Amino acid sequence: MFKKLPAILAAGLMAAVLTACGSSGGTGTTGATSEAGGSDTITLGFSQVGAESGWRTANTKSVQEAAKEAGIDLKFSDAQQKQENQIKAIRSFIQQKVDVIAFSPVVESGWDTVLKEVKDAKIPVILTDRAVDSTDTSLYQTFIGSDFVLEGKKSGEWLVKEYEGKSEPVNIVELQGTTGSAPANDRKKGFGEVIAADPKFKVIASQTGDFTRAKGKEVMEAFLKAHKDIDVLFAHNDDMGLGAIEAIEGAGLKPGTDIKIITIDAVKDGMQALADGKINFIAECSPLLGPQLMDLVKKAVKGEQLEKRVLTEETTFTPEQAKAVLADRKY
Ligand code: AHR
Repeated sequence: MFKKLPAILAAGLMAAVLTACGSSGGTGTTGATSEAGGSDTITLGFSQVGAESGWRTANTKSVQEAAKEAGIDLKFSDAQQKQENQIKAIRSFIQQKVDVIAFSPVVESGWDTVLKEVKDAKIPVILTDRAVDSTDTSLYQTFIGSDFVLEGKKSGEWLVKEYEGKSEPVNIVELQGTTGSAPANDRKKGFGEVIAADPKFKVIASQTGDFTRAKGKEVMEAFLKAHKDIDVLFAHNDDMGLGAIEAIEGAGLKPGTDIKIITIDAVKDGMQALADGKINFIAECSPLLGPQLMDLVKKAVKGEQLEKRVLTEETTFTPEQAKAVLADRKY
């Protein structure tokens, strides 16, 4: 019996260590399996916005797969579109002493306090997808993601070309993304700047659809009840546009013909609707940020100086272009 005691103690100790390693600190974070092991493994705390759209689902998959591929231990937390949940997750990452914190901020404002706490803990921060409006840029190492203003501009430019040579008023309704979020603010700005050049373009209604299909449908139904003369819908993402298509069809109108539709993202469902002629134009926003993010994480851990802004390359799609690439679209 005494001979067996060290083995029992060792087993008990091992169990205790494994329990501690697997703990998520009670904050709703989940650790992804890492292929690498041992003490050199980098731990990344990642706070995701939520699961509001097809874009977001593809982005989460990209981050999770890239972490696994890079042998990075990912502590993933879903904020369910709430800033308070992201702040809690970030504080929990500080307690867990992760090596790097990355997050996609639900909204632009209100991050300074928690980011100062991260800075005091000497943990590098990487912003992914969405920006913060902090004037103190030392609070984060880099920001990787799209140029949302440019996406809005590309959408406006397509519209200007589409109505070139016509003088009648063009009544536009706008489905905005989450109020206060960088993509909603920036896409609105970019689109507005371009169409302002010609007074025939009038935004007759603009409301948030929170980037979801359900709200896109609900708000479009309200727009259709209030306005009988809608020419164009500009939706800040595919999902809201797809919800709006249901509302337009429900009102007995033909999306893409009776009401021209512009969206942003180019996820598979959006591209299908574009190929089917229900959407007229999509400005792409790439969710595949995972591999670049993991490279930045590794560099940050090594203490390398990171470029302050890493931009994603994107294009635009017409129905013909969507038909040509649809079969190979991964997300
Ligand atoms: O921040 C990127 C935006 O967030 C995507 O365009 C939208 O689909 C998502 O919800």
